[in-house]
Amino acid sequence: MRQAFRASLMHCLKDPGESSDTSAVESIDDGLLVVEDGRVIEIGEASVLLPQLTDTTAVTDHSGKIIVPGFIDCHVHFPQLDIIASYGEQLLDWLERYAFPAEAKFADFAYAEEIAAVFLDELLKNGTTTALVFGTVHAHSADAILQAAEQRGMRLIAGKVLMDSNCPRELQDTPASGYAESKALIERWHGKGRLGYAITPRFALTSSEEQLIAAGRLAAEYPDVWVHTHLAENKTEVEEISKLFPHSRSYLDVYDKAGLLRERSVFAHCLHMDDHDRDCLSKKGGAAAFCPTSNLFLGSGLFDLHAMRAANVRVGLGSDVGGGTSLSLLRTASEAYKVLHLQHQALPVARALYLATLGAAEALYLDDRIGNFEAGKEADFVVLDPAGSSISERRTRVANSLDEVLFAITMLGDDRNIAATYVAGSLATAAA
Ligand code: GUN
Ligand code: ZN
Repeated sequence: MRQAFRASLMHCLKDPGESSDTSAVESIDDGLLVVEDGRVIEIGEASVLLPQLTDTTAVTDHSGKIIVPGFIDCHVHFPQLDIIASYGEQLLDWLERYAFPAEAKFADFAYAEEIAAVFLDELLKNGTTTALVFGTVHAHSADAILQAAEQRGMRLIAGKVLMDSNCPRELQDTPASGYAESKALIERWHGKGRLGYAITPRFALTSSEEQLIAAGRLAAEYPDVWVHTHLAENKTEVEEISKLFPHSRSYLDVYDKAGLLRERSVFAHCLHMDDHDRDCLSKKGGAAAFCPTSNLFLGSGLFDLHAMRAANVRVGLGSDVGGGTSLSLLRTASEAYKVLHLQHQALPVARALYLATLGAAEALYLDDRIGNFEAGKEADFVVLDPAGSSISERRTRVANSLDEVLFAITMLGDDRNIAATYVAGSLATAAA
């Protein structure tokens, strides 16, 4: 059935850059988004498209609000939902003290299912329609999150964690068991409906070289599955890596030597790396997940977006909950603005939107399906409410342009500013 949605519309056609190239963004103050069978048919001026609609087309009026493409979270851990905002440690101590104990609870499948459902409902409440998600070492954690995504019709990529060293024994697999379980999960889930699988070595500190090589072998066997890991997040971590892998030029080189750097490889953080690494990441088609709330919360460092994009690296935003402090990609973009400001870099709102939508889709090689409102793309979209909070209502009332409204929502916003989230054209969640 054909449906139409009336509101202000905004989406990106390419990266608007630091100077906000206006040809990169399409904005329509009074627009119409026309959808059928879960896909975008067209967008345009409401005054032009409304008279062309047949009587059978249902029109939903979101006037006064802004429709943007569904947000895409390029890096998040669903098992860490309940340890968000845990006090006081940097990465390696934080893992020991908070993350590993939380993940050990996922030995219980019923618990994994319960958290998976809550987690995806939270994502949808925050306008996130696609995510690249870490599970735990337990294979059934991937089953739990992918099954929950299937029930909600979401485009989601997830994987069981591979880790065989430097972590609690009950959270360890082996190179052989991790390989076999991941392979079985790929066969069960990858390409089923809107779901995808990511081979997920936690990071090079918790996988032996043998396990990294086994993961690389699997990545070569299944070139269209994703690879998802962490890279160069924390200075102590980077020092440990150079001791463990003395023959590698850099941390990225450890993954590259194991066959884990290729198209569809997504590396969370990428803070402490040089131009040579950025060039290598770009040439091999890997992507970086920029996780500003996590990088600030764990005191990890500042992501250099200018250098990344100058090297042509694909970049999307990641919430990195539970190291990150919010599932909201509005909040995440707001912290990204500040992280960049500290480095004298600009983040115009059009580029923030790009990093949360089309840029993230490019990072995941999904831009032929999601990320903007090109005809034929899957109709995942978010209805933003400028009046979601009393402060955003006041600020946006005096704004002079759609750009200014969206900037204020991005800086001030959270789930209160998400009026509704649609997945493949169907309402997934709406504010009460
Ligand atoms: N590096 C390895 N594991 C993790 C994790 O769970 N969170 C973050 N932020 N970094 C990691
Ligand atoms: Zn992470």
